[in-house]
Formats: sequence, structure tokens, C-alpha cells
Amino acid sequence: MDDFVFRNPTRIIFGRGAESKVGVEARAYSGKVLLHFGGGTIKKTGLFERVTASLEAAGVGFVELGGVKPNPRLSLVREGIELCRRHGLGLILAVGGGSVIDSAKAIAAGVPYAGDVWDFYTGKASPVEALPIGTVLTIPAAGSESSTGSVITNEEGAFKRALNSELIYPRFSALNPELAFTLPRNQVANGIADIMAHLMERYFTNSRPVELTDRLIEATLRTVIAVGPAVLRNPRDYDAWAELMWSGTVAHNNLLNTGREGDWGSHDIEHELSGIYDIPHGAGLAVVIPAWMKRVYRHDPVRFVQFAVRVWGVDQSFRDAEATVLEGIARLEAFWASIGLVLRLKDLGIGNDRFAEMASKCSSGGKSTVGHFIPLGKKEIEDIFELAK
Ligand code: NZQ
Ligand code: ZN
Repeated sequence: MDDFVFRNPTRIIFGRGAESKVGVEARAYSGKVLLHFGGGTIKKTGLFERVTASLEAAGVGFVELGGVKPNPRLSLVREGIELCRRHGLGLILAVGGGSVIDSAKAIAAGVPYAGDVWDFYTGKASPVEALPIGTVLTIPAAGSESSTGSVITNEEGAFKRALNSELIYPRFSALNPELAFTLPRNQVANGIADIMAHLMERYFTNSRPVELTDRLIEATLRTVIAVGPAVLRNPRDYDAWAELMWSGTVAHNNLLNTGREGDWGSHDIEHELSGIYDIPHGAGLAVVIPAWMKRVYRHDPVRFVQFAVRVWGVDQSFRDAEATVLEGIARLEAFWASIGLVLRLKDLGIGNDRFAEMASKCSSGGKSTVGHFIPLGKKEIEDIFELAK
């Protein structure tokens, strides 16, 4: 097991009505907050009223900033930073999915920084302080409600890049599975793909031994595979949503990468797709991950056999390990297809005309690699796009 430091400070408030408790939580940090949200779903569902009532009851004032788009944009982050400075706001309350939460994190890091917030996403600077963040989660997917990550798209050049810092762990997150009842089916499927991707990015590692975290990841994957179809069959199945929502948080709150090094190459590759084509992150991962697996499994077939057998229940062939590996990948693809995800770039409307450009952007013009299981350079990234086309 690798040495590690583990700290996750996010206070999780889980269950029915959790959103009505955020006023009191927010009050511990500030009397005036930025209320940040997306394209308006929260106003249609009544969530906005419940959250603002909770803030008002706790004596917390707020300034609204809606309009976060999926694949959140840098321009709105800049607007949020200005609003916080102008009104002296002391906490960002994000009500929505990963996009809203990531935008809130960028604002939180940007407010006390004298330079350009994009510096944090290019690696030019690291945050040394950030405003506190609270969240009300409306979709189990990105895990941003309890993660160190924020992923933002800079419209100039269509660069989608990530910041990772412990300073942007949300201080509290309200998780009410009922809030997911209104999700459209495609968003549910995208979320399932993202949760599974976070687990698989951690699973495919060169660290040894990692028995406990292997088993925890396998258990979480098997839970998602069981409850994902259940919420699609019955969108008001509270218990299934509760399992899925908590799985989404556990998949990405850093517990499952303790003592092991994750891969993350597929995420970097997917960010090129959603940066340029503005596709949902989960939909992109459903295409990239199986292609990544086909490109890299020969590096460690034993690990892929373990994945096939323990996660998908494949009967192990003692004579032909490769057959077991490929059956595991095929079961993953069949599962994703069964929940409505597409598995080819062409089915997302993406042709092969920009593969070289994306591989180049992803590898800093061929000067760097992504991923740890096998570091992937420009050529290998292009191979993966070819396998996914
Ligand atoms: O904008 P609104 O109106 O809120 O609608 C959203 C949006 O259109 C809708 N939605 C959310 N909750 C809903 C709902 N519709 C009906 N009922 C509800 N309860 O769903 C759409 C997608 O929302 P979004 O926030 O974009 O989804 P998700 O949570 O999948 O977030 C995706 C973003 O997270 C980033 C991705 O790259 C992507 O930009 N990620 C962030 C990570 C992190 N910070 O740790 C890690 C991930 O790997 C990921 O990269
Ligand atoms: Zn992800």
C-alpha cells in the first residue's frame, strides 16, 4: 500500500428535507452568501423556494447568480467573483450538479486572489485561500459535493481544465435523494457513467497490495450496477436513489484512492471532448473508457481478469485470460448500452477530423503524458480516439 494522508472535511447532511437545513449550516460561516445555480431547474421544482426559506429563517442574506451551463464557463466564474467582492459575500452556496458546484469552487478560489482565476487551472498558481463553499446536490454524478476538484471551460480556445485543492472541499453538502426524482433519463445515465468512471479510474492502478480498497471499489461498482437500472425503472424509488447518491459521493471523496495511485487518463481525454464539443462529461466517458481499456489491458491482464470476475461475475477461463478480460469489457459496454448510453464517438456526432488536435492539446503538444496505469502520449491518445470512433 502506498503512503497516504487522508482528510475529507465535508459535512454530509443526508436524507429527506436536507436542503431545508442549509440556512443554519451557512450561518456558521457568513451572514450573506452567493446563491449559485444552473439553468433554472431549481426554480421549476420548488427547490429554490425551500433553500431561500431556509436561508431567510436563519437570517442569512443572499445574492443570486444563476445560469451555470453544463461544462461550466469561465466568464460566469469571473462574474461571480465580482459579485462576491462587490457585496462582501462570505460563502458560496451551490444548488445543482457538478457544473454548479465546480463553478462555485472556482469563484471561491478566485475571490481572494489578486491574479486571474484561470491561473489555477493552467497550473500557473495554486490557491492559498478560498471562500467556504456549501452545496445542495441535485444529481448523483460528478462527486464534486465532497471532492477537491473543480473543472471549468475557458471559452477562449475551448480548454476544459481542472483545479485540485483541499481548500475547495465543500464545508457542507446537503444530499436529499428525492431531489433526483426529476432528472431526465439521459442525465441519470450520464451520472451513472461518471460515478462508475470515478471508481474504475481508481481501480486500474499499479500500486500493490491494495486489497481493501479493491474490495471497496468493487462493492461500490456492484451497488451502482444494481441500483442504476432500478432508478430508471422507477424514478421515485427513494431507496435506490439513496444508494446511488451516496455511491456517487463515496466514489469520489478520496477514501477509495487511499494507498493507491489512480489512473485519470480517461478523464483527461474526455475533457478534450466536452471542451470542444460541449457534450455531457458522463456521455463522453462512456465512449472513452471502453476504448481506453482495449488499448491498455495488455499492461496488466491479471487486474482486468479480477475486474471481469469480481465486478461482472464473468466465469474465469483458466486457458485464455484474454477472453475473460474482453468479456469483462463487453459486459461493461452492454450495461452502459442497456441504460441508454452510446458507445461510439460517431453516435455523439463526433467525427475523426479533430483527433490529432485533441490528442495534441491533451498532451501539451506531445510534450507530456496523461494517466498513470500506463502514461499515454499523443500517439496513444489518438489510438484511443480511433478505437472509440
Ligand atoms: O442547469 P440545470 O437547470 O440545473 O439542469 C441540469 C443540467 O442541465 C440538470 N439537472 C441537474 N439536477 C437536476 C437536473 N434536471 C432535473 N432535475 C434535477 N434534479 O442536469 C444537467 C447536467 O448538470 P451538471 O451539473 O452539468 O451535471 P453533473 O453533475 O454531471 O456535472 C458535470 C460536470 O462536473 C465535472 C464535469 O467535467 C462536468 O463539467 N466534473 C467534476 C468533478 C469534480 N469537481 O470533482 C469530477 C468529475 O470527474 C467531472 O469532471
Ligand atoms: Zn468524472
